[in-house]
Amino acid sequence: MNSAHYTPRHDRYDAGMKYRRCGKSGILLPEISLGLWHNFGENDPLPRSMEMLHYAFDQGITHFDLANNYGPPYGSAEKTFGIAMKQSFRPYRDEMFISTKAGYDMWPGPYGNWGSRKYLMASLDQSLKRMNLDYVDLFYSHRYDPETPLEETLQALVDIVRQGKALYVGISRWPKEAAQVAYDYLAAHDVPCLIYQGRYHLLDREVEKEGILQQAKDNGAGFIGFSPLAQGLLSDRYLNGIPADSRMAHDGRYLKPEALNDSTLRRIKALNLIALQRGQSLAEMALAWLLKDDLVSSVIIGASSTAQIEKNLKALRNTTFSPTELDAIENACKE
Ligand SMILES: NC(=O)c1ccc[n+]([C@@H]2O[C@H](COP(=O)([O-])OP(=O)(O)OC[C@H]3O[C@@H](n4cnc5c(N)ncnc54)[C@H](OP(=O)(O)O)[C@@H]3O)[C@@H](O)[C@H]2O)c1
Repeated sequence: MNSAHYTPRHDRYDAGMKYRRCGKSGILLPEISLGLWHNFGENDPLPRSMEMLHYAFDQGITHFDLANNYGPPYGSAEKTFGIAMKQSFRPYRDEMFISTKAGYDMWPGPYGNWGSRKYLMASLDQSLKRMNLDYVDLFYSHRYDPETPLEETLQALVDIVRQGKALYVGISRWPKEAAQVAYDYLAAHDVPCLIYQGRYHLLDREVEKEGILQQAKDNGAGFIGFSPLAQGLLSDRYLNGIPADSRMAHDGRYLKPEALNDSTLRRIKALNLIALQRGQSLAEMALAWLLKDDLVSSVIIGASSTAQIEKNLKALRNTTFSPTELDAIENACKE
C-alpha cells in the first residue's frame, strides 16, 4: 500500500495488545514495543520499513524506540521514521510514544559522542529534524560516560524536558551505582527518571543479577528490555544453521557467528522443546518469559518482516508459567 494512503485499523486497540504502567508514572507502554536499530536504515527497502511501522501501529504497538545512530548510516532510521511521520503517522502523533537516545559515536570530533551537555542537546535537535517531530516522548542517555560529571549529563536531561524537547527522560545501560545517582538527581530536579533500558533475555540475566531490575522498581522507574530474542538466537532462526537472510549472516558486527557456539545451540534447542510443550514457538516463549511478572514494563523487539512482528505478538496470549516450566527453563539455560 502507498504509505501516503495509510489509514490505521479502527480496531487497533482491540487487537490483543495489553498496556502496562511504566513505573510510577502516568505512562502506559505496550507490552511489546518496536525498535528501529536494524532494518530501517537507508539501505533497507523503504516500503518494507513502512509496512512494518504501519502493521505495528495497527496491532496496538504505540511505542517506537530509536536512537541517533540507528541505521546504517547513522541517523537513517530516524529519517525513515520521519518519512512515516510526514506521510502517514502525523494525524496519530498523540497516540504514539516515541523515544530516541544519544550517547554513542555519532559525528566526528570531540562533541559527537558520550555524555556532554553539548552533545546531548545538539544530538536531540538533529534527531527531531530527522524525525519531523517537535518533541520526543522520551529521551535517553544511551550509555554511562565515565569521564563526564554525571551531574552535567543529568542536568542536560532535566533541561531538555524544561525546553519541551522531551516529555520524559530515561537512562540506558548505566551501571547500578551511577543509575542510583541518576534516579536521585532527576527526582530532586522534578524530572523523575521514567525508565531504565537494558539488555534482558533468557540467555543474558545481567540486569537481574546486578539488581538493576529491582532498583528501577524501587525508584519508581519502569524497565524496558532490549534484544529480547538475543538478536534472533531465541527463535527458530538458527536451530539448523545460519540462514542467508539472517542478521548473523549479513551483519558481522553485532551478531557474530561465534555467538552460535555449541553451548548456545544446546541451550536454544532445549528451550525450543520446552516452548513446543507449552504450545509456543521459542520466540513466543522467550518474550512471554520476560513479561511473566511486573518487573518488566515492555520489551523492545526488532524485526526484519511484518510476519515476524505478527508471530512475536502471539507471545501475549500466554505469559503465565508453572513452577515446573520455570525450573525446566532455568535448567535449559545453564551453560
Ligand atoms: N539501548 C541500547 O543500547 C540498545 C541496544 C540494542 C537494541 N536496542 C533496542 O532494542 C531493539 C530490539 O533489539 P534487537 O533487534 O536486537 O531485538 P531482538 O528482538 O532480540 O532481535 C530482532 C531480530 O531477531 C530476528 N527475529 C525477530 N523475530 C523473529 C521471529 N519471530 N522468528 C525468527 N527470527 C526473528 C530478526 O532478525 P533477522 O534479521 O535474522 O530476521 C530480528 O531483526 C532495537 O531496535 C533497539 O530499539 C537498544
